[in-house]
Amino acid sequence: MKRLFGATNEDCTAVAELLRSGEIVALPTETVYGLACLALNEDAVSKVFTAKKRPLCDPLIVHVEDVSQAREVCQPDERTLTLAEAFWPGPLTIVLPKKDCVPDVVTSGLATVAVRSPSHPVFREILRLVGAPLAAPSANLFGKVSPTRAEHVMESFGQDHPPVLDGGPTEVGIESTVLDLTEPRLKILRPGPITREDLVGVIGGEQVTYDSSVNPSGKDRPSSPGLIPHHYQPDSPLMTFPNPQALGSFIKENIDLPKGTIILTHSMNDTLDPLPHGTNTLHLSESGNPEEIARNLFGCLRQADRKSPPLLLCSLLTEKGIGRAINDRLRRAAGKC
Ligand code: TXA
Ligand code: MG
Repeated sequence: MKRLFGATNEDCTAVAELLRSGEIVALPTETVYGLACLALNEDAVSKVFTAKKRPLCDPLIVHVEDVSQAREVCQPDERTLTLAEAFWPGPLTIVLPKKDCVPDVVTSGLATVAVRSPSHPVFREILRLVGAPLAAPSANLFGKVSPTRAEHVMESFGQDHPPVLDGGPTEVGIESTVLDLTEPRLKILRPGPITREDLVGVIGGEQVTYDSSVNPSGKDRPSSPGLIPHHYQPDSPLMTFPNPQALGSFIKENIDLPKGTIILTHSMNDTLDPLPHGTNTLHLSESGNPEEIARNLFGCLRQADRKSPPLLLCSLLTEKGIGRAINDRLRRAAGKC
């Protein structure tokens, strides 16, 4: 079976055919690569869980072309329509009560389903050709770093990787915002590229809160079952610091850091003085711009991991806008959330 496809018309048709026949295929979205399958086909969905080694208690996002296709799997209310009008197609996932046609394996037996309309032109073309909703978790092994390039998918799954459609590097770089719309107050279950500020601008301030698990100090069980503390984890241990000053002080006090330690800086202008002997730096962006950091984050974690460093060090960003989502991923990558 052919396993690497491009974004040509011929390959898109072939990929759509594979999906229609119940196969799984990794596709680019604007956030990260997703491992797609027919959302309403139980066998196809099971293949995704098996390939990812994902526990069945972690539900999948169903991807749709538009609100009209979303109606096949849920009943959008007025607020959904307002949010979809503002943010779809784009990186906003909405959790709503599900319709009976959605198999339990997709939603992990929950009465709700998570839906989003991706903006990536290739994913949209495949949705159009398939003509049915596609479930797609990030195309990585469970708990590991998400893929932002086709090569990352192949690297994650190894030689027997599922078919991949290479649509180039993804633009946003971190996964969609997950928003629970099942209660009167909107709850952000996973912070992402559509920020609380963006949502408040459309829906009003009082109504948008964060799930407790999203708060660094939150200790309750998350409402979003996939939000486990250990996620997005590189193979090497990662230590995070509240800000660059705290990272700088740590380095000054621990000048004997293990040889090969990699210090992830926010921009290429962040200089560390002194840079401890035997350590290296890797910058997450050229400019320090948070959007650019989001785009590069997972690729940098993978790049660092390839050198098998004994330790990775990184400071968090200012806790606002997309910085909040980046910090969420960094904290989970460090296993402390
Ligand atoms: O940007 C994205 O969202 C990417 C691309 C491929 O679309 N997908 C993605 O999927 O990140 P995944 O499976 O890695 O993360 C889905 C998240 C998990 O945290 C899961 O627990 C949550 O969405 N989720 C799915 N269905 C849910 C539901 N019914 N209620 C609450 N959380 C849900
Ligand atoms: Mg994931």
